[in-house]
Amino acid sequence: MSKGCTKLKLKLSTSHLIHFLMATHKVCLSEFWAVIHVVLALSICLVGSETETARRTALFIFGDSTVDPGNNNYIKTIPENQADYTPYGQNGFFQGPTGRFSDGRVIIDYIAEYAGLPLIPPFLQSSAKFIYGANFASGGAGVLTETNQGLVIDLQTQLKYFEEVRTLLITELGEAQAKELISEAVYFISIGSNDYLAGYLGNPRMQELYQPEEYVRMVIGNLTHSIQVLYEKGGRRFGFLSLSPLGCLPALRALNSRASDGGCLEEASALALAHNNALSAVLATLEQMLKGFYYCKNNFYDWLLDRITKPTEYGRSSLKQNAWGLSLSIISHTHRFKDGVTACCGTGPYGGIFTCGGTKNVTEYHLCEHADEYVWWDSFHASERIHEQCARAIWSGPSNSVGPYSLEDLFFNIERKHTIADIADYPKDQQMIY
Ligand SMILES: *[C@@H]1O[C@H](CO)[C@@H](O)[C@H](O)[C@H]1NC(C)=O
Ligand SMILES: *[C@@H]1O[C@H](CO)[C@@H](O)[C@H](O)[C@H]1NC(C)=O
Repeated sequence: MSKGCTKLKLKLSTSHLIHFLMATHKVCLSEFWAVIHVVLALSICLVGSETETARRTALFIFGDSTVDPGNNNYIKTIPENQADYTPYGQNGFFQGPTGRFSDGRVIIDYIAEYAGLPLIPPFLQSSAKFIYGANFASGGAGVLTETNQGLVIDLQTQLKYFEEVRTLLITELGEAQAKELISEAVYFISIGSNDYLAGYLGNPRMQELYQPEEYVRMVIGNLTHSIQVLYEKGGRRFGFLSLSPLGCLPALRALNSRASDGGCLEEASALALAHNNALSAVLATLEQMLKGFYYCKNNFYDWLLDRITKPTEYGRSSLKQNAWGLSLSIISHTHRFKDGVTACCGTGPYGGIFTCGGTKNVTEYHLCEHADEYVWWDSFHASERIHEQCARAIWSGPSNSVGPYSLEDLFFNIERKHTIADIADYPKDQQMIY
């Protein structure tokens, strides 16, 4: 409704402008058409920018340390689940450590930036406002309640917190506007690694109870349920970070007693792969089952494995625009990754003993000079440079590794693509509930 009004207003002012130009300038016919073209182009730009600034798509984040912006600073947990001490956050983007498990930003900070949003605050930060979204993620959290139980905000509790925010938004904005915000928002979910690492491989009892494939089914079953809960609450646009090759985390490489050459721990990577494949199948099914369900899933597993095995082929890239306005990604030779195996911050083989400041049992740690040159920041977590590059890939990503929608589509292009699909697939009178 409001969008229609905006367009009408612009149309009126366009024709007024043309009349004004005709009257004041006595233009001949060809000049008149030229003017119309210019004015039309102008009004299209106006419509574009007006909708973008007026309506910003909110971002809600659920997950673990890959996307925790500092929720764990506010809970009683163990040093392994916290990152609110130096050298975390050392690279200068933030004033100091924030609780992010990185030398600086994490993936969702970049996604917020690309979406034109401010940094999305941790839900537990008492002063936070949630008009652009909220981040519920907690380092160490898993899909299953049993994973690191009592030490993290598990996914079910994250969903409860989301309900609190939803209620708050309804109070603040009114039912209609809150509903619109919630249905247009993007829900970014990055979780599962801890279910397989701490929850399964680190938990002999679980391994006795469940075969690996049964366990994966249980994790995926609960994750699917959580997605459906969010859908029932009004969520429609979902982004997923798939699991990385978990066996190649420095901590797991260091544990791999069988490989004297320092290979990845294959059991861990196999669980991650099984999880990713099952999630892909579930998402394709949900897309068929749930009206208006849109998602973006990337292949973070292969993406990261490439950088782990061939670090020097990737690196800090800068976007340059060519003469046609196309953005080209240039990797300068001096800014390539140098190490895909060892943690920048840690100790022992591959920096795989998880210690990097704070009050961990092993207090001595080694810190590299240039975190930018490392795929891994600490024994479990990627460097800011990896977060940035991954965010860029998933934002606009090549369609062979990101799909069916990119995150940029979810934020800005769903309505346009949705309309095109409508014309192609549906009879005119059939409306999709959105
Ligand atoms: C969810 O996980 C619990 C264990 O936390 C399990 O008992 C239950 O069967 C799982 N649900 C689904 C739908 O897989
Ligand atoms: C650290 O030390 C405490 C107390 O000695 C012990 O309970 C805990 O399991 C240790 N943690 C790790 C990760 O080794």
